[in-house]
Amino acid sequence: MRRKRILAGAILLTLGCGQGGERSPAEQGQRIYVANCTACHNPNPVLDGTLGPAVAGSSRALIEARLLRAEYPPGYTPKRPTQQMVVMPYLEPYIDVLAAYLAEP
Ligand code: HEC
Repeated sequence: MRRKRILAGAILLTLGCGQGGERSPAEQGQRIYVANCTACHNPNPVLDGTLGPAVAGSSRALIEARLLRAEYPPGYTPKRPTQQMVVMPYLEPYIDVLAAYLAEP
């Protein structure tokens, strides 16, 4: 009896991972965003957050410049004149998936 229940749980977990067990880049990006950005940005990136502005539609170049160097791409007009966002260089491997998520949250 107990064994059967464990098996059923394992099947549900597998289904939860979606087709082929792989998450799409945008889904991976959403997880990174929720875990690392929503202390300041809104969980819904279309909206302004407690501290940071709306970030939906941010380009990969903008995300990279902000996360790695606290800068902006050449010619970009920042939404805010402040310098409050911290650099997060450890997120470099996730810039692509963040860009995929913010392109169409
Ligand atoms: C400590 C709070 C904080 C965290 C955490 C944070 N941000 Fe920000 N972010 C800000 C603030 C505040 C601004 C406005 C400019 C400034 O003051 O640095 C900003 C600006 C931005 C901008 C530029 C918006 C524009 O178009 O001018 C992007 C893109 C951005 N953040 C993305 C992110 C992403 C992606 C994460 C998570 C990986 C993140 N931020 C985490 C506070 C934060």
